[in-house]
Amino acid sequence: MATPEVKYFPKLFSVRTKTSVGAGTKLWGGRFVGSIDPIMEKFNASVSYDQRMWAADIQGSKAYAKALEKAGLLTKSELDQILSGMDKIHEEWSKGAFLIKEGDEDIHTAHERRLKDLIGEPAGKLHTGRSRNDQTATDLRIWLRDEISVLMGHLHLLIKTMVERAAVEIDILFPGYTHMQRAQPVRWSHWLLSYAVALSRDAERLDEVRRRTNVLPLGSGAIAGNPFQIDREFLCKELQFDAISLNSMDATCERDFVAEILFWCSLCQIHLSKMSEDLIIYSTKEFGFITLSDAYSTGSSLMPQKKNADSLELIRSKAGRVFGRCSGFLMTLKGLPSTYNKDLQEDKEGLFESIDTLTAVLQVAMGVISTLKVNETAMKNALSPDMLATDLAYYLVRKKMPFREAHSASGRAVYLAESKGIEISQLSLDELKTISPLFESDVLKVWNYTNSVEQYSAPGGTARSSVALQVEQLRAWLKKRQSN
Ligand code: ARG
Repeated sequence: MATPEVKYFPKLFSVRTKTSVGAGTKLWGGRFVGSIDPIMEKFNASVSYDQRMWAADIQGSKAYAKALEKAGLLTKSELDQILSGMDKIHEEWSKGAFLIKEGDEDIHTAHERRLKDLIGEPAGKLHTGRSRNDQTATDLRIWLRDEISVLMGHLHLLIKTMVERAAVEIDILFPGYTHMQRAQPVRWSHWLLSYAVALSRDAERLDEVRRRTNVLPLGSGAIAGNPFQIDREFLCKELQFDAISLNSMDATCERDFVAEILFWCSLCQIHLSKMSEDLIIYSTKEFGFITLSDAYSTGSSLMPQKKNADSLELIRSKAGRVFGRCSGFLMTLKGLPSTYNKDLQEDKEGLFESIDTLTAVLQVAMGVISTLKVNETAMKNALSPDMLATDLAYYLVRKKMPFREAHSASGRAVYLAESKGIEISQLSLDELKTISPLFESDVLKVWNYTNSVEQYSAPGGTARSSVALQVEQLRAWLKKRQSN
């Protein structure tokens, strides 16, 4: 077979470049003489997604302009022009009238270009000592800390819903499972609170992420810092950051705050997808413990009887995309040389998507939990005496038998009942006495599910008093956080 001839298409390539915007007209175009390949231009541009940070970018630029004026690099009149130009841009965005133009590479260049259209020459002074490296890092931190507040609000509401539901339904018992096998009776509220507690740790972890996110990079320039006596403490206050970054090389390239929030989203998704899985199982006909509200279910286009737990399935599934974004971004960061590299532009899409996902997931989870119906009878009917075999062993322990022996004695009772084809609770006292002489008529008290859960009264257990304490503690925790 003849080897195919390798062809190059210089003509096609040059036709493409002719349609492109000359790099010399760009904000960074001074040293460029050639024009940019339109494919490269598109590949390089981030404006299609980083425009989400428009408000943060305006905030940052206004603060920076004020700092420039304080440092004597802008006159009062230039500052006023820049501020009113920026306000006009803000107004355009608010009205949906801001126009992204061809050649606007990212939100930062788009704003500077528009500012120049609006106010002319003074616009060129705004970037004095600033770089898009410290600018984009600042914008992203402002954007994220604001989104974290929104997420936190949804998370608190979800936790509150679970806590209040647990308080109301504290007396409902159902089977607790280990290895997906019926283990011991527990309170339904205890199950609910188990997730509320996990989510409360997520909230505290989110505080930490916010604390490390809310550090100001502005004033770090491209890599080396700011040479114009810019008052970074002023910028910090003006932009409501908690602290200023300590090192300009770190500040311009470090995206560990993005990695942290992506991991945070992943962990929160783990909790919510596990919870969803439980609820999906509980909502099956076989279990029938809960019924999802129609508002969070869908039907089948073919099988009329079906009511699917789509809301919970989607919450469960979203974990995949969030984990993917987290591990993908870690791959992007791995082995990057210091300091800013264009790879870092990849921080945004995954971050936006993950935050959007969690924002939706938390709200849907809240909706599902607050509207589902608990089928108390089905839960009660699912309890079976074999789940009290541990209690039978504890009965003997209370009569001073060592636990290992008691465990084995109870195991023999389970076996005896199974071989007779009856429930363990139906064994007669005489039959029990063949296993241990310690069994007496009071053994009947063992066969009571409420008595069973009530013995777990140590803090953290499923006794009513202990669950009520969990409710109280979580209420106080929420109150303290919401008053802060
Ligand atoms: N759009 C860029 C980003 O998101 C802004 C920073 C560009 N800096 C640079 N030196 N080219 O990362």
